[in-house]
Amino acid sequence: MTLTQDPSSASADRGARSPGAGYQDLLDNDTRPENVPVVLRWQSWQSLGDADLPRERYTSRAFHELETEKLWKRVWQMACREEDIPDVGDTCVYDIVGISVLLVRSAPDRIQGYYNACLHRGRQLRDHDGNAAELRCAFHGFCWNLDGSIKQVPCEWDFPHVVKAEWGLPEVKIGLWGGFVFINMDTDCEPFESFIGDLPSHFEKWPLEQRFKAAHVAKIFPTNWKVVQEAFMEAFHVVATHPQLLAGIGDANSQYDWSGNFSRAITPNGTPSPHLSFVPTEQQMFDAVSDRRLDEPPFVELTDGMTARGVTGMGGRMAMAQVLGDRTDQLSDAEMADSIYYTLFPNLHPWGAYNRITYRFRPYEDRHDMSIMECMFLEPYDLSKPKPPAVPIHWLGVDDDWTEAPELGLLARVFNQDSFNLPKVQKGLGSLRKGITLANYQETKIRHFHWLLGQWIQRD
Ligand code: FES
Ligand SMILES: [Fe+2]
Repeated sequence: MTLTQDPSSASADRGARSPGAGYQDLLDNDTRPENVPVVLRWQSWQSLGDADLPRERYTSRAFHELETEKLWKRVWQMACREEDIPDVGDTCVYDIVGISVLLVRSAPDRIQGYYNACLHRGRQLRDHDGNAAELRCAFHGFCWNLDGSIKQVPCEWDFPHVVKAEWGLPEVKIGLWGGFVFINMDTDCEPFESFIGDLPSHFEKWPLEQRFKAAHVAKIFPTNWKVVQEAFMEAFHVVATHPQLLAGIGDANSQYDWSGNFSRAITPNGTPSPHLSFVPTEQQMFDAVSDRRLDEPPFVELTDGMTARGVTGMGGRMAMAQVLGDRTDQLSDAEMADSIYYTLFPNLHPWGAYNRITYRFRPYEDRHDMSIMECMFLEPYDLSKPKPPAVPIHWLGVDDDWTEAPELGLLARVFNQDSFNLPKVQKGLGSLRKGITLANYQETKIRHFHWLLGQWIQRD
């Protein structure tokens, strides 16, 4: 079968699941069952088949060019956060496959996006983020208003052929959701609301627009962008890549779902991995969740009747109460403990509940063999106060270690484990003489991504 086949006619095994407690079973035992949101009870999975993926999707320059034309120039994609450009005149440069887009807050309640190029001889209008009263090209001084209309033509007598009414900056389309600013370069594109589908309803209890960007780290990888992205779309790699987590993570008991243009995985924490040959105690599970080092005392001593998930939930609610106030009373253990990681095609990965993580992956410049991974922490804040300012981006180069970004805390060491494999994946793909073989269930999110990608690249 092909990747574009309708899921309802797929033939792969629909039933096989790991031994151990399934995610819905764990929800039944939440200490706050009445708080478990409907969206965690939602299950939406159909087989997308078992065909191998062509390795050329990761290695071929021609495929990258196909992606550029058929995907990046036509798909809705996240360009920045609204709090990156809070004030009128704030600008943000978003680069994708050699095209630069300039996001501008042109009025208090209006964000516009322009191709970042001067209409005279093409110099990019803005080289970096920052505030501007006008958009003036540094080369000869052609100047535009923030709303994109032409403001000044230098030596206008020499440009009688320039019709000022027609010299507005060409715009990209803008979509807004969850405090994210999306762009689309295709003037005939699907409306943003239909593209994003039901995803906003999944985040109603955890509104991402009520967050601010407290950390933003970007690292460059010497790999195709999908190699990096796909390392963060399943928990199947935990057993081999992050074995220190196994005592407290239901890696192979994760739940995977997909619908429309988004997919989701939920990996439960505070529950043992089914890979273990012993049954850890609740204390051992909690120690694994709380990243206890072997030479440290436990973060909390669990007494009789206390469970790792219950204590994680209680601790999480206590920590969140400072900013969420009464709203913490409505949170379940699951929302405090579990890793709930969504993917909106093609490259945005907001995490659910009050885990702060959002990832974005994209090609580096116009390279098929280099990419950028970004990790943002979107934190809730006291809504009675103004939204705190967003942090600027912190860049890490190919050879920089994630621990050079201490703002990522515990995640930096986990990311190092992930990153170790990735250049070697890219190398191996050059030698592989077959396609990529995916698991039927645990690699659902990757399959779903490629199923959609296959449809995009075949469009006229
Ligand atoms: S290229 Fe911009 S003013 Fe000449
Ligand atoms: Fe990982």
